[in-house]
Amino acid sequence: MSETIRFILNGSPVTLDTEADRTLLWVLRTDLELTGAKYGCGAGLCGSCTVVVDGAAVRSCLTSLGGVEGKDVTTIEGLAQSGELHPLQEAFRKLGGFQCGYCTPGMIMNAYALLLKGPSPGRDAIVQGMESNLCRCSAYTRIVEAIETAAAELGGSHE
Ligand code: FES
Ligand code: FES
Repeated sequence: MSETIRFILNGSPVTLDTEADRTLLWVLRTDLELTGAKYGCGAGLCGSCTVVVDGAAVRSCLTSLGGVEGKDVTTIEGLAQSGELHPLQEAFRKLGGFQCGYCTPGMIMNAYALLLKGPSPGRDAIVQGMESNLCRCSAYTRIVEAIETAAAELGGSHE
C-alpha cells in the first residue's frame, strides 16, 4: 500500500508516494535516478550502498524508505558544492583511491560519516572505521591515504 514519505535528500525536500517497505537503495537508484550508491551484496556486508542518514553511515540496501521519513539523507551526489568536489572526492581522485570505482561512493560516504564523528582521526581509527567497506580491487592503502589527506585538509572544519 502506498504511503506519503517525506525526507530531505542532499539538502532538498523530497516527497514520494510509494510503499514504505521498499529499500532506500532501490528508491534512490530508480525513482530518484541517483545511481551513485551501488548494489553490491544486498545483504549489508560490503558497504557499496552506503549513504549518510542524520550524520551516520547506513547501508541503504538494508534501510527501508519508511526508515528515513523526516530524516536528512546525503548521498555521494550531494557532496560536491557549487561545482567543487568535496575534499574527500578530490583526495580519492588525486591519490587514485580506487581501481574499478564500484566501491568508491560507499567508501567516500562512510569516510564522510567518519569525519563527521571526529574530524581528525588517526590512521588506526580510519582503518578501523573503514574495515567493513570492501574493495574487490584491494585499493585499501590508497583509500586510507586519501582519507588521511582529506582529513588533514579539512582540519576540523568538515562540512
Ligand atoms: S549492497 Fe549494501 S552492504 Fe552490500
Ligand atoms: S575500486 Fe574496484 S571495488 Fe574498490
